[in-house]
Amino acid sequence: MLSRVKPLATILAEGANQDSGLRRSLGPWALTAMGIGAIIGTGIFVLTGVASATRAGPSLTVSFVVAGIVSALAALCYAEVSSKVPISGSAYTYTYATLGEFLAWIIGWSLVLEYALGASTVSVGWSGYFTYILHTLHIWDIPQAWQHSHWDPTPGIANLPAAIIILLITALLVRGTKESGTVNAWIVAIKVLIVLFFIAIGVGHINPANYHLPAGPTTGLGGYFPFGWGGMLGGAAFIFFAYIGFDAVSTTAEEAKNPGKDLPFGILMSLAICTILYIIVVAILNGMVPFNSLNVAYPVAFALNSVGLAWAGVIISFGAIAGLTTVLLVMMYGQTRIFYAMSRDGLIPPSFVKLHPTWRTPMFSQIFFGILIAAAGAFFPIGILGSLTNMGTLIAFVLVSLSVPILRKRHPELIGSFTLPFGPYIIPILSAVTALGLIYFLRYGNPIVWGIPLVWLGFIIWLILGLAFYGLYGRNKSTVALQEAEGGLAPRQPRVN
Ligand code: ALA
Repeated sequence: MLSRVKPLATILAEGANQDSGLRRSLGPWALTAMGIGAIIGTGIFVLTGVASATRAGPSLTVSFVVAGIVSALAALCYAEVSSKVPISGSAYTYTYATLGEFLAWIIGWSLVLEYALGASTVSVGWSGYFTYILHTLHIWDIPQAWQHSHWDPTPGIANLPAAIIILLITALLVRGTKESGTVNAWIVAIKVLIVLFFIAIGVGHINPANYHLPAGPTTGLGGYFPFGWGGMLGGAAFIFFAYIGFDAVSTTAEEAKNPGKDLPFGILMSLAICTILYIIVVAILNGMVPFNSLNVAYPVAFALNSVGLAWAGVIISFGAIAGLTTVLLVMMYGQTRIFYAMSRDGLIPPSFVKLHPTWRTPMFSQIFFGILIAAAGAFFPIGILGSLTNMGTLIAFVLVSLSVPILRKRHPELIGSFTLPFGPYIIPILSAVTALGLIYFLRYGNPIVWGIPLVWLGFIIWLILGLAFYGLYGRNKSTVALQEAEGGLAPRQPRVN
């Protein structure tokens, strides 16, 4: 199973075939905008609050630097592989050509956590700002029972706004939108302006005392690192969510004008811009209000409200829900495209590759995931959803990093426009090790179930389900396996040890 690789020639040929269908219209800056559209979202607008209050305090700025470094290392690896294999399907496709079908399956399966569960996480963040706007403008106070899941700190029945926004976006994606590219570009611009707006007005309201609160029941040891280094690293593992999304750029490979060159640019540039913005925002947020007051669903609006700028809070909230909507679009779109690639390879049932006759969208797949994502957003708390999303993404990062040296060894003939500096080992190994480090620190602040942190347990259960599915279905139905059996495929590639 490990040696069952999909020949690169086949992958590249599939990409070339699809070329006729998809228009190559995206240049380097359009891809950067797309990356920013996918990156800035619930992580910065929502999770920073919980992370400051319960994990890192003001040292969350350092957490953002740490998570930014882990993401940058992985982004460099993504940049090299995507410049060599500029085909849609993201990490799943790269791994199929390098690490073999079995690990590609594990990646594809983990990416469901990144994209589908990521969308659920964002929907809960969306709901927080939406509820805030309705309340602040005295439009409607949604009953608590319908704002929260049963497991939230304030228990309710279900998070209804989260489920509704997912179902609306599902309808939009099923119908397909031609104008979505332009709309996306506008919303990305609004989102960046909102962040700059917060920076511009927040910076004048920093109270340096907030960086060094005294010790206390809710302020831990006090000071800049109130919960120690462990808290800071736990914060990094948690807000890693804020960086997820740059890899979505690689799912658009077949629509890029010059994918070999523009994909690495889009991936690295979008990540660089967001990292700088994030660190500034977090430093300002923790300077404006005491960190222990930030455990709310709309921390950025809350901080502005606390310094008497409620109007600015409302403006930011409108920008935030618009921005979160684009993240949802990218994630829910990306999820079905990854399953499309997996279904094309026979690893999952063919319904996921079927297109609606007139709308040309994978309608079944979109509705299937729409319902699952809405249910997860409605019934689970944001902390659990976000941690599991991080877990799935970090696993994908580890495997993509490892595929860099393997790809170089197996296909020395492939010359991408972007090659990692310092040889094929140093950055990929650093990337894999640091991603594993964040996985370790994800345990921080997690409930322990059966002696294991919940996030790890959740992933183990997900993995077992995935392995069972692969054993019973994909292993036998795989197109590569069937073609190999018929002897109709290029000879198997040598294994790399
Ligand atoms: N990075 C994206 C967000 O924070 C997933 O919403």
